Amino acid sequence: MKRDEFSGFFGVLVATVGSAVGLGNLWRFPYLVGQNGGAVFIFIYLAFVLVICLPIMISEFIIGRRTLSNTVKAFQILAPRTPWGAVGIVGVVAAFCIMAFYTVVGGWTLDYIFRSVIHLFSKPDITAIESQFTTLVTSPVRPILWTVIFILFSALIVMSGIKKGIEKYSRIMMPFLFLMVVILMIRSITLPGAEKGISFLVKPDFSKINTQVLLAALGQAFFSLSLGMGCMITYGSYIPKRENLTKLAFTTAMSDTLFAILAGLAIMPAVFSFGISPQEGPGLVFIVLPRIFAQIPLGNIFAVMFYLILFIAAITSAISLLEVVTAYITERLKMKRKTAVAIISALVVVCASLSSLSQGVLQDFKILGKTIFDFFDYLSANILLPLGGLSIVFFVGWFMKKSPVYDEFTNQGTLKGTLFRTYYFLIRYVAPIAIAAILVDLIVR
Ligand code: TRP
Repeated sequence: MKRDEFSGFFGVLVATVGSAVGLGNLWRFPYLVGQNGGAVFIFIYLAFVLVICLPIMISEFIIGRRTLSNTVKAFQILAPRTPWGAVGIVGVVAAFCIMAFYTVVGGWTLDYIFRSVIHLFSKPDITAIESQFTTLVTSPVRPILWTVIFILFSALIVMSGIKKGIEKYSRIMMPFLFLMVVILMIRSITLPGAEKGISFLVKPDFSKINTQVLLAALGQAFFSLSLGMGCMITYGSYIPKRENLTKLAFTTAMSDTLFAILAGLAIMPAVFSFGISPQEGPGLVFIVLPRIFAQIPLGNIFAVMFYLILFIAAITSAISLLEVVTAYITERLKMKRKTAVAIISALVVVCASLSSLSQGVLQDFKILGKTIFDFFDYLSANILLPLGGLSIVFFVGWFMKKSPVYDEFTNQGTLKGTLFRTYYFLIRYVAPIAIAAILVDLIVR
């Protein structure tokens, strides 16, 4: 049976951009920008995307498309009788850890959509908004129910396969997503006093650079571009042989970055316009924004739109995480796709429920001083992804021979491959050194 694949450049692109654009752009990026000095963080982030992450994305695509396999098997094919397959296994574990908290936040977005629709025609009570977030996340049942619904949506899409599932739904949702965020941005930058927010995003203050800002920017770049755990290896294995991987990686990375900046422009000017501190942290989009929606004309409509954006962005990313595990289980255990997805989703429900409960009744249960939710977040984003990224660049830059890499980079010599030398240099020296520096910093602290 022929392996399922994406239908062409645009088909792959909506899927990879769908994976990349997610809560990372809309929820994590704005609050990190706020906490790490604004424009200067964005500049460093851009530099990391270009010199570290772009080469890693190309490498993941190369591993996947060379082997046409799930992330574990891909390493085993390219490096038989070696322990390299473990990198794939760690990736599958990382996918689980990310899903365990990502789907919980996805559930929150559904609750917010539901509530903004209910209140579409009523005047919201600003004092109540303050407490609604805490009430939601600490209650035992309600957020879990929403999380289960979120997981169900993801499972249904992934069950339908690559072309008829992931690609089809991304094609519908991604253009809509970009359109809505542009509308929201226009609303935000036309609020009185928006200039302060815009200049916060574009005027860098280079005195604000320190190691903490560098670390945050690199971690965010990995997370936002879905790198370091085989997600792009898995998607890479569905890319038709005729597509140009460099062009694809470049377009994906640029779209993701553009979206992050649009999200920043949709959020920060509004925050400044209302005189709120940009340093709010993770509650920015769930606590601060509702307060703003409550005060602007037609705010209710913009609220529905915003949480719908958040949901769409989250679900097209969640399916890419689910697909990493699904591809592995179906190919390893020769299981039917639907059965595999059902089993995996059930396991995700268990982990996600625990991490949801850890915001409330299980608050005092700590692993290494962190709640279950924070532990999954920390373990995956700060440890497993950079470790995975380091292994991947090492694998492609130093373990694999140069010729198969060149072959896949140039579609068996049919493309000119002008950028190959730059790519190979970045992958062999720049990326490993930069990531290793970050990891060492993490250990010594
Ligand atoms: N990139 C997504 C976001 O920005 C999250 C995500 C999806 C992810 N797949 C991933 C992160 C794989 C790391 C690895 O929200």
